[in-house]
Amino acid sequence: MALNNSRTLRDKILKARELILSSEYVVVLTGAGISAESGVPTFRGSDGIWRNYNAMELATPEAFNTNPKLVWEFYLWRRRLIASCNPNPAHYALVKLEQKVPFFTLITQNVDGLHHKAGSKNVLEIHGNLWRVRCTRCGRNEYDTKTEMDVPPRCDSCGGILRPDVVWFGETLSTDVLSEAINSLKKADILLIVGTSGVVEPAASFGMIARQDGAFVIEVNLEKTPRSGFYNLTITGKAGEVLPQIVG
Ligand code: OAD
Repeated sequence: MALNNSRTLRDKILKARELILSSEYVVVLTGAGISAESGVPTFRGSDGIWRNYNAMELATPEAFNTNPKLVWEFYLWRRRLIASCNPNPAHYALVKLEQKVPFFTLITQNVDGLHHKAGSKNVLEIHGNLWRVRCTRCGRNEYDTKTEMDVPPRCDSCGGILRPDVVWFGETLSTDVLSEAINSLKKADILLIVGTSGVVEPAASFGMIARQDGAFVIEVNLEKTPRSGFYNLTITGKAGEVLPQIVG
């Protein structure tokens, strides 16, 4: 039985490899699972962040208006945690993949910056970046890698309160970034979805959008997700083990 399972897994990986490496346009969508092997906690697993913390008190505009200090403490805690994390073989496999196919877009829901740290170039961070701040008054944004600071920090230009430049629950995504992501999904020959539970919109629907427009959709995840049945191929395994085998 175990042998059969590993044969099936190997066959699926080989099929994914053949299809992906012969494609013109590959789009990849990643979620927290791709960074799990780097030591970054996911949101909904057994040790997931939202199991231990209340998202409504820490990741909404209302929470920030009510208690910016608390929200900032939460983001500084995550910054400190992520600062000691490095990209894993899954991130590096995607860097290699970008070099191997003619057209490539990496859409990530992750705010940890590990795809950039690994060396990926064409990355759309649809939920923003934890290492950037944005002024709530003048809108200026900039990278800021501090892990300790007086909170909430203030804007050097206008004195307004700075917030993490991430997308919170109840907020809309940047229209420019979202339309770039949708355009890439419509052009994709392959969409590879890695390490996302597929429950947060709009990314949860990206697989369906790509499929409707003719893409072959492949999912790599530790377990089946509510969306697995809609995809062409699902590979159950760790991203850090599966992706290097797909990309080679
Ligand atoms: P989740 O924590 O919801 O899901 C992580 C997924 O990764 C799960 O389906 C796991 O099975 C899978 N996984 C865990 N370890 C893995 C591994 N080593 N290899 C492959 N898969 C693995 O994270 P997201 O789907 O990214 O948004 O969550 C989506 C959004 O919800 C996040 O961007 C964040 C969150 O709340 C905001 O904060 C707005």
